[in-house]
Amino acid sequence: MCGIVGYIGQREVVPVLISGLESLAYRGYDSAGVVVVRDGELEAVKAEGKLERLVETLKGESLVGTYGLGHTRWATHGEPSERNAHPVMDSKGRLALIHNGIIENFLPLKKRLIDEGWEFTSDTDTEVVANLISSHLKGDLRAATQQAMAELEGMYAFAAVSTVSGQAEIVAARKGPPLVIGLGDDEFFLASDPAAVLAYTKRVLFLENMDLCRLTDAGPEIWDENGEPVERPAVRLTWDPIQAEKGGFKHFMLKEIHEQSQAIQDTFAGRVDFELNTVGFDDFALTPEEATQIQRVQILACGTSWHSGLVGKFMIEELARIPVEVDYGSEYRYRDPVVGEGVLAIGISQSGETADTLSAMEAASDRGAKLLAICNVPGSQATRVSDGVIYTHAGPEIGVASTKAFTTQLTALYLFALYLRQQRGMAIESELLSVLAGLPHAVAEIMESEAELEEMARRYSRLEDFLYLGRGINYPIALEGALKLKEISYSHAEGYPAGEMKHGPIALIDEDFPVVAIATGSRVFDKVCSNMQEVKARDGVVIAVTDRPAEELAEIADEVIQVPRSSDLLQPVVNVIPLQLFAYFVAVRRGADVDQPRNLAKSVTVE
Ligand code: G6P
Repeated sequence: MCGIVGYIGQREVVPVLISGLESLAYRGYDSAGVVVVRDGELEAVKAEGKLERLVETLKGESLVGTYGLGHTRWATHGEPSERNAHPVMDSKGRLALIHNGIIENFLPLKKRLIDEGWEFTSDTDTEVVANLISSHLKGDLRAATQQAMAELEGMYAFAAVSTVSGQAEIVAARKGPPLVIGLGDDEFFLASDPAAVLAYTKRVLFLENMDLCRLTDAGPEIWDENGEPVERPAVRLTWDPIQAEKGGFKHFMLKEIHEQSQAIQDTFAGRVDFELNTVGFDDFALTPEEATQIQRVQILACGTSWHSGLVGKFMIEELARIPVEVDYGSEYRYRDPVVGEGVLAIGISQSGETADTLSAMEAASDRGAKLLAICNVPGSQATRVSDGVIYTHAGPEIGVASTKAFTTQLTALYLFALYLRQQRGMAIESELLSVLAGLPHAVAEIMESEAELEEMARRYSRLEDFLYLGRGINYPIALEGALKLKEISYSHAEGYPAGEMKHGPIALIDEDFPVVAIATGSRVFDKVCSNMQEVKARDGVVIAVTDRPAEELAEIADEVIQVPRSSDLLQPVVNVIPLQLFAYFVAVRRGADVDQPRNLAKSVTVE
């Protein structure tokens, strides 16, 4: 999704904007631009395509100044092109604006503005905002922005600079998509997410919905939706800027796959007492009474986080004996779900900013649910709207295809299920914890098969269709394995419950349609083996992921990926790792842009 950066201070602004945009590139974009205000003039440079093209174009320009804005655009209204790239100017050339989100009433506003004599040169909804603010602009950019906000419908975050106000200032507003202010010494940053300011400061504050902010070199002034001045608390980020760099790996995704062992450990560290067999969270607690009052859990999430919710259902139902429903945020928000007292809604989100997940959480809360967020980004919207938060300690995840966020979400869900079990008066048996303690090692062990997986990926990278089969708690892992492959390699891949294969996908089996089957654990191992046999009987190709000796599967699998044995509930964490690596190597082999796959965005802040 679009990325917003802004800077005001003493430094030369363009390099700061470009470094911020580079940090936001992972969100996905198709054009980029910057604007600088100098001597009462707006100077903008834009380019379609990758940031390198913008940087190249900037070499021929002499953009200097100490405040300005930068933007990466992910097209919604209007094709990706230089003409539709941001910053967008109003037709009188008095202000430049960058925007993330969708203005739903842009057509009637555009019509009115055209009638009033405003001109439009792009296909964007953004240009409506620029002209609308300019139509109110008498000298005070904040006042004009506030008037415009009252007329705008939809979800947006935007920032504007103007030549009219006569002073160095950036005005920014949000309704939906996030905006964070970085607080430096006599310099201030604006960004769509904290990763963009991390190289300069770890002190940030998050704007709330409907906040309007004026940033000068004296710092931020903020007004709430009623126009009242407000203070927003500063938060200190614990992330290390080094974590947001590639550190010698070819891609962020590969680096993040490798970081999983440590990230899992960081997620359970300090939350488990391995001597007393107890689980507790520093910043989140349920009394035994509150835990007992929970009658149902509703998990709300999107994408990979939804897959971790599906695994979480098995964990919570088995360990805490509470029924769990799992919904896509985008579906739940438009249903009329039965909620009420006794429902705990859990929003799972790496970013904490996914619009559909946030809306679903709000819908659950409005209907009487208590809200818990499982989230990776400190201070993000999901954490602020919830009654409690369990942070995953994955560190910044930059690759669009989620990896370490997923396995740390599974770890957090396991911890939470154990915690519910304990608070509802059931003992946590030591094996439930010892297997968790061994998880980082099991995950690290799989990395030893990296070269083998790369070689295997080479053999399959020319194929266009894959079927992933899993059963029980590993069905969501089949979905996740298939999602990883299609996201980054653009091969078609489908995840299916193994037992359902005979009701449809079996018709597709042939030698060019490999089946990746997850055959681990004890409960359904034999059943999945039967499914593999069914594939072999139809000249299909089977790639098996198993915790059994390879010989056991020699007859029914063409390839065997061996993984260490964990417990049934934690095996999904182990099983997904080779599937992530397989997808990664297939994508690299196919020459795909692994960290920024086409059309995808890391953080989907619009519907
Ligand atoms: C996007 C990303 C996915 C992610 C999903 C949910 O589609 O590309 O990797 O799983 O959003 O994101 P969230 O931040 O809510 O976990």
